[in-house]
Amino acid sequence: MSRKLRSQHWFGGLDKDGFIHRSWMKNNGLPDDAFDGRPVIGICNTFSELTPCNAHFRGLVEHIKAGVLEAGGLPLEFPVFSCGESNLRPTAMLFRNLASMDVEEAIRGNPIDGVVLMAGCDKTTPSLVMGAASCDLPAIVVSGGPMLNGRLKGRTIGSGTDVWKFSEDVRAGVMTPAEFMAAESAMSRSPGHCMTMGTASTMASMAEALGLALPGNAAYPAVDAHRARLARLSGRRIVAMVAEDLRPSHILTREAFANAIRVNGAIGGSTNAVVHLLAIAGRVGTELTLEDWDRFGRDIPTILNLMPSGTFLMEDFCYAGGLPAVMKEIADLLDLDNPTVTGKSVGENIADAENYNPDVILPRAVALTQQGGIAVLKGNLAPQGAILKPSAATPGLMQHRGPAVVFETIDHYKQRIDDPDLDIDETSIMVLKNCGPKGYPGMAEVGNMALPQKLLKQGVRDMVRISDARMSGTAFGTVVLHVAPEAAVGGALALVRDGDWIELDVAGRRLHLDVDEAELARRRQLWTPPEVAMPGGYQGLYVERVMQADRGADLDFLVGCRGHAVPRESH
Ligand code: FES
Ligand code: MG
Repeated sequence: MSRKLRSQHWFGGLDKDGFIHRSWMKNNGLPDDAFDGRPVIGICNTFSELTPCNAHFRGLVEHIKAGVLEAGGLPLEFPVFSCGESNLRPTAMLFRNLASMDVEEAIRGNPIDGVVLMAGCDKTTPSLVMGAASCDLPAIVVSGGPMLNGRLKGRTIGSGTDVWKFSEDVRAGVMTPAEFMAAESAMSRSPGHCMTMGTASTMASMAEALGLALPGNAAYPAVDAHRARLARLSGRRIVAMVAEDLRPSHILTREAFANAIRVNGAIGGSTNAVVHLLAIAGRVGTELTLEDWDRFGRDIPTILNLMPSGTFLMEDFCYAGGLPAVMKEIADLLDLDNPTVTGKSVGENIADAENYNPDVILPRAVALTQQGGIAVLKGNLAPQGAILKPSAATPGLMQHRGPAVVFETIDHYKQRIDDPDLDIDETSIMVLKNCGPKGYPGMAEVGNMALPQKLLKQGVRDMVRISDARMSGTAFGTVVLHVAPEAAVGGALALVRDGDWIELDVAGRRLHLDVDEAELARRRQLWTPPEVAMPGGYQGLYVERVMQADRGADLDFLVGCRGHAVPRESH
């Protein structure tokens, strides 16, 4: 190594401090030469049995360590807060920012020269990248990979997407509770994360599209030996990245985010990528706005035929050539010069990519939709913006005017939705309040509200829904999300009443509440903020300092890169 590495400020001294830092590490079995100035690679592991999507990481990490050792580095694994989607309440999103603080401080406070970020389940990828971006030491993402395709009674079923479908079928009376139970074991057949193009697969794809992961990272199934090989090669590569001093701030340029937004449109990626990319850009100090999602993503054809927008699953995506093949199909729309963790450009990384299955990765002429990406809506109901994913919506509902049926909270929705006397039909617009960052708290994935049972039984399967919530990346429907400002801070959403007329015009990017200003002002006078569910503690801090969805729902004091200067000695 041509320069003195950061870790040598711990391990290189001959005084009592050097003694302390080395001596205790030697109880790991490390010999003297472990401290000779070789790069120290932190491996940030989100293993947890409570995050089942990442529960195979104890095995995967060994491949990363082998790669680091082969390249002459010293691998040191450390655990961080693991944000598991399926168990954490009130929502894993509440803890994304907490986990990112853990990552940032653990990297900066320790003798680390570069870091491997082991992510899988939805929030683990953004939390790790946000923390690493705020530190800006060389970093590479290794995703845990998706589960094998779900299989039920001879047919393919997808994580999340089919849960929403099956549960509507049970409510509509066309699936029995016993069949519903049987689907549980059929859906999750192997280690790995959701194998639809949900948020986990989307964020693994975003890491790859941004240039933060090796090509192929997104799609190899968790149990595929290619995944282990990619982990090993990533271990080798991070050692070289330390030598090159190739850091997130070099890779995460505005062009990288533009590429990622375009790729998100091409893969029919999760709406959750919107808040995560905005938050990551905020950490690294790259300018990115909600409007950029519309600007860069508009008219990107959705060519990846995966659930929830299409039919196939991640295993099929892998066999079709993975993300490099998708990026090659839209190469003329991408910035090919941006640097990546390989040390090569985006264009060089995808030069040899091939599409092996045009039913999975479609030719552009027969894309699922020519209007992929994310539509950013504005209007008096969402002055700071709201979003909708056209590829998951019903074309006939994307221009719609209907009367509001209002649910003040998620509990109010649950009490009211199956009331046979509820005045609602398929032209109504369902409005849900107080599910945003401060309101839920944590901006839960409840925006894709299930439809009323009485309408399901009539065969209705989609209606316009509007809220300040998020929805699962595996979900679908004509669902307007992330309304900002949220109801809990007194946004116009808080003022909507039953029977108000609302206009949704996706082509015109408009979301309008047809109530005059004087009446809205009168209602605003009567509005009182909801009570904070849990004052104090992390949740209290979160509600006090979280920014709105159009700023990525990060905590305001976490925005920015605080660097990796060596802190003062501990003794
Ligand atoms: Fe972990 Fe879907 S629950 S990825
Ligand atoms: Mg989710």
